[in-house]
Amino acid sequence: MGDTVADRHDGAALEFTFSRKDFDKVRTTLYGMAGIRLADSKDSLVYSRLARRLRALRLNSFNHYLAYLKQHKEEEEHFINALTTNLTSFFREGHHFTELGKYLRLHRHVKTIWCAASSTGEEPYSIAMTVAQAYGTFASPVNIIASDIDSNVLQKASNGVYRKDAVAKLPLELKRQFFHRGKGAHSDKVRVVPELRRMVEFKQINLTHERWPLPEQVDIIFCRNVMIYFDKDTQLKILRKMVGLMPADGRYFAGHSENFNMASNLVRPLGQTVYQPVKGR
Ligand SMILES: C[S@@+](CC[C@H](N)C(=O)[O-])C[C@H]1O[C@@H](n2cnc3c(N)ncnc32)[C@H](O)[C@@H]1O
Repeated sequence: MGDTVADRHDGAALEFTFSRKDFDKVRTTLYGMAGIRLADSKDSLVYSRLARRLRALRLNSFNHYLAYLKQHKEEEEHFINALTTNLTSFFREGHHFTELGKYLRLHRHVKTIWCAASSTGEEPYSIAMTVAQAYGTFASPVNIIASDIDSNVLQKASNGVYRKDAVAKLPLELKRQFFHRGKGAHSDKVRVVPELRRMVEFKQINLTHERWPLPEQVDIIFCRNVMIYFDKDTQLKILRKMVGLMPADGRYFAGHSENFNMASNLVRPLGQTVYQPVKGR
């Protein structure tokens, strides 16, 4: 294991004391709350993200912060929000949206799509644009549920406001149909049109918790670039539960570096990180 931030700098250079023991406590706590496994190399990231919380709470060491976290349930949310990685973009892994569009045109019975780690909203709004195009209307019969553990990203997602460069690469036709350009002081921003925002229902769901407030059946699940943060046992537990929600002809869309070849009893690969549930065994 490499040195911690505390080992690499001399004590005087660091604003807060941060020992290897503190880092390990942070990792164990985060794993317990969110199933997220932090690699040894993430010590600097943990230091800089949590240092902000220490400043906000006027605490002078990580040891004090960890004690505070234990005693104040409401700090859990800040702790989790500080440590999640929320990288995303519109139409990320574009082939999934082409597949989704084709699937929706052939399967008119689809009622629910769940985007299970929706981050700041680019992914569920890309799903919503695909649905609106497949049906030729904003008023489709498809219900889109988007969830994340992180309350900050959910707030940003439901506002639907993005920097102009986030949509720079989208075809003009999509920008015209689905985004309003900001004016005056907001001219560097765009906002998802209200009709599209209304198609997505945002909820806070921790994938490692027992209770997922969802309909009994979910036809399609987008669960991309979040399983990589979990260990194999947690991944399989979540995948089994998700498969339990889907019909036999459902679809599961995984992230580019996630593969479930080890779960052939649960899902069957259809190519390009798209899976179909294996049912009736
Ligand atoms: C890298 S982003 C992926 C965003 C999007 N799915 C994509 O592929 O572009 C990972 C997201 O997973 C969320 N996350 C991490 N642990 C989670 C958990 N236990 N339950 C639900 N969401 C979680 C994070 O808050 C973050 O927004």
